Amino acid sequence: MKGIVLARKLIVGNWKLNGSLPENQSLLKAMLSETSIQAPKPSHVEWVVCPPAVYISQASDLLSGSSIALAGQDVSDQEKGAFTGEISASMLLEFKCRYVLVGHSERRQRFAESNDLIAAKALAAMKAGLIPIVCVGESLADRESGSTFTVLSSQLDPLLSLLNPRALKGLVIAYEPVWAIGTGRNADGSTAQEAHAFLRNKLAQVDLACAAEVSILYGGSVKAANASEYAAQSDVDGVLVGGASLIISEFLSISQAFHA
Ligand code: PGA
Repeated sequence: MKGIVLARKLIVGNWKLNGSLPENQSLLKAMLSETSIQAPKPSHVEWVVCPPAVYISQASDLLSGSSIALAGQDVSDQEKGAFTGEISASMLLEFKCRYVLVGHSERRQRFAESNDLIAAKALAAMKAGLIPIVCVGESLADRESGSTFTVLSSQLDPLLSLLNPRALKGLVIAYEPVWAIGTGRNADGSTAQEAHAFLRNKLAQVDLACAAEVSILYGGSVKAANASEYAAQSDVDGVLVGGASLIISEFLSISQAFHA
């Protein structure tokens, strides 16, 4: 897509199945002190943390009044009822979540979440007023067989077909190649840019103006040492960080790469 991308920069920490009350407290307090006193970040860069669900209440209390946003790691496609183990979008909102991850590859793989279910979850989140961070990404086999773009389309199309075009603005996309997640083998900047440009073009086919405002994040073995590679790409609007988000110095350096 030609033109200027206006999307806000997001640095999202996905804690996955990590943390404890004392560990969360010290990480969040360190983040709060970094945002306020030591290294104020520019307003176009937003920090988001995704703690395990049981810690959302703790994080919500600690982050109250700060500029750090809170996100769930998953959400139900249902509002209420007999759905044991599920958490609804309105519950996340009660604890001041602004975002929620949807369709992370670990959920697609371990919990067999389908593209249709993920579309339904994203839609339920948007209807309730949350911003879904919809994760897409190809496996190594997909990439090696040349089907990366076909797979990305099949992951996103069910959602795009349900959305009113203007609603695109309420969406964040995370491109996370499965082969790069937790492996230390990150996609290089140009590989990420190619996938991001493909995704933005897909969004532009739905609504050209809105596509420029959708933040498209890269995720997969992002760390301080490689963050600037992504920040330099025109269609990379931030990162979704797993392992390195648990280390404050790493998270801070990753963020600084996007401050320019
Ligand atoms: P990673 O995880 O940074 O540890 O590779 C990223 C993610 O799964 O969101």
